[in-house]
Amino acid sequence: MKTFGVILLSCFALTLLIDVTNGSNSFTIDYENDRFLMDGLPFRYIGGEIHYFRVPQEYWFDRLFKMKSAGINVLQTYIEWSGHEPREGVYKFDGNYNVTRWIEEAQKAGLYVLLRVGPYICSERDMGGLPWWLMKYDLQLRRNNDIYMKYVKQWFSVLLPMIKPYLYQNGGPIIMVQLENEYGYYSACDNSYMSSLRDIVRSHLGDEIILYTTDNPGLLACGLVDDVFATIDFGTNTQPDDQFKTLRAHRASGPLVNSEFWIGNIDTWGTQHLTKPVDEVTKWLDVLLSYDKNMSLSMYMFHGGTSFGFGSGANNGGYLPRPTTYDVDALLDEAGDPTEKYRAVKNVISKYAPVSKDDIEPSPKLSIGPIDAKLEMDFTQLFSQQFWKKVDSDSPQPFEYLGSRNGLILYSTTIDFKSTSPSMLTINALRDRAYVYIDKVFQGVVSRQEKSLAIPIRAEKGSRLDLIVENQGRTYFGDEISQHKGIFGSVTLGSKTLTKWSHYFIDDWEDFTSLLKFDANVPKQHSGHNSKNALHPAILKAEFVVPFTKTYDTYFNPTNLSKGFAYLNGKCLGRYWPTNGPQITLYTPGVWLKPSPQVNQLILVELEDPPCLISNGTCQLTFDDHPTLNGETPVNW
Ligand SMILES: *[C@@H]1O[C@H](CO)[C@@H](O)[C@H](O)[C@H]1NC(C)=O
Ligand SMILES: *[C@@H]1O[C@H](CO)[C@@H](O)[C@H](O)[C@H]1NC(C)=O
Ligand SMILES: *[C@@H]1O[C@H](CO)[C@@H](O)[C@H](O)[C@H]1NC(C)=O
Ligand SMILES: *[C@@H]1O[C@H](CO)[C@@H](O)[C@H](O)[C@H]1NC(C)=O
Repeated sequence: MKTFGVILLSCFALTLLIDVTNGSNSFTIDYENDRFLMDGLPFRYIGGEIHYFRVPQEYWFDRLFKMKSAGINVLQTYIEWSGHEPREGVYKFDGNYNVTRWIEEAQKAGLYVLLRVGPYICSERDMGGLPWWLMKYDLQLRRNNDIYMKYVKQWFSVLLPMIKPYLYQNGGPIIMVQLENEYGYYSACDNSYMSSLRDIVRSHLGDEIILYTTDNPGLLACGLVDDVFATIDFGTNTQPDDQFKTLRAHRASGPLVNSEFWIGNIDTWGTQHLTKPVDEVTKWLDVLLSYDKNMSLSMYMFHGGTSFGFGSGANNGGYLPRPTTYDVDALLDEAGDPTEKYRAVKNVISKYAPVSKDDIEPSPKLSIGPIDAKLEMDFTQLFSQQFWKKVDSDSPQPFEYLGSRNGLILYSTTIDFKSTSPSMLTINALRDRAYVYIDKVFQGVVSRQEKSLAIPIRAEKGSRLDLIVENQGRTYFGDEISQHKGIFGSVTLGSKTLTKWSHYFIDDWEDFTSLLKFDANVPKQHSGHNSKNALHPAILKAEFVVPFTKTYDTYFNPTNLSKGFAYLNGKCLGRYWPTNGPQITLYTPGVWLKPSPQVNQLILVELEDPPCLISNGTCQLTFDDHPTLNGETPVNW
């Protein structure tokens, strides 16, 4: 279960009475009695994980309150470097990345905090939470090399001083800080890297705070660091005794902690929807909590939320891109509503810790439509916009060298020789999916996920070759994290390498709709599209008014589309891909909608050829009052 990370911290009733703003607070490990001590008293945690970057900030307190109500006493949370430093030296700590506000809200909700500062976090995020721009230096990540460590030091010198006032001994809720994540899995096994991280974090946060690591118990050899407390992670259907015995072989004493008790499951685009049964979760939670009364755990995930925009990454083992949803069959669903699993888990926790008597109701949901989304720009119109940056070079360049974070790049060249017809077009080191056009006529798709990297094409001398390459999310696990996106090898036609490329790109597709200018005078290509020229990638636009003067959460349903990116009022809801599944609907927070009578704007970047686009350029779409995450997926996956 390398793809999960959870912490479950629970404390007994006693801890609820402690004033966490008292300056004489202490949180320590009693190695003689294998337990934590908070202000000198035994402490255990039943924790849960939520990531601030996956929940709209307006809903933070709501989710934390529901966590506390279930009897959970500790929030475990990752810090995502890539979101806080989206470009080298440019920092973001406002809005959804206001991490100190997140910590304050947790404290307000009565939760202690376990902070997993990385720098690598995994978490099914793009590049495991490491910034994409590091790859312009062709680094080996997560190793003690000078360039990587220079950037880690810089980042920690920005982050950690902000965190310090929130440590428990300083009156805040943070009781422990995690280094890296599941480093034991990583082939580098660079112990000097982990001990350097320890020293850097200590130099900022002091000697008092407990630092910890989290690893698969079978892989502790490369995960452990001297003077850093070791925890392990494991899910259901596994005896705690077996797991903790392995830990004890390495660390003779100290409290037992399962930092990620996996209570859900994670989907992949194109693979059947996965869940984890409620009774399996409650059975093994009870086994764990009764195993040792001083043992602590954190559930992964208490509430998964959504990887909005381009935040979602891909697993290794082939190339397995994760969907936009991070519902992951957690205790709260994607919209923050309690599930049957929430109530069942709360029931188990009530045997060990105080829980709230109150029941929590689901929030109201909107249903809107159908609404018409109309073709605004086809391929040609889109790429004749003024905002594209253009770079020419002999060989194709990856996203990172061009300074482009995510989304699409158009690679374009002219075939200046006579080739056989058809001739095999091969893209070496394609990351991740390319739409191939000859003289603007669509030829087909080559795809890393589907392991098809070549396509036969018929081109004349002088034909223009266009490749729209989609970055489907950077790999977050294994050696492939140190990879470039786009085309990182040669492109050949027959035996000949193609040269003289032009690249058309933008800095960041999160901001795409702010660049768009619609010109009412430009004729639309739709009705009875009979030219052979490609429509896609196409921009569709819909404007609509919600039925109320208040807004509520809803779920965008792109069933009539194929694959692309959806933007609502300038915010990227994420990638949609209903033709592949299993995720169909995109969670749409009510706080991102405008109430009646204001007009909402939905913009779609459609990469393929849904029938509605071809027939008349108008696609009917809805917003539903319920999610659909278990759509049909292709066979043979
Ligand atoms: C973070 O939130 C706090 C509290 O709401 C606010 O005072 C602060 O200005 C915010 N930080 C940024 C960078 O927006
Ligand atoms: C747990 O802690 C309690 C009191 O702090 C102690 O009496 C007990 O022996 C410890 N160990 C186990 C396995 O419960
Ligand atoms: C487009 O076609 C659909 C179904 O084929 C039809 O319902 C719709 O009215 C048409 N729209 C336009 C603008 O012609
Ligand atoms: C898809 O389009 C059809 C007709 O064009 C429409 O009846 C249907 O409501 C649309 N589906 C969704 C989910 O919007």
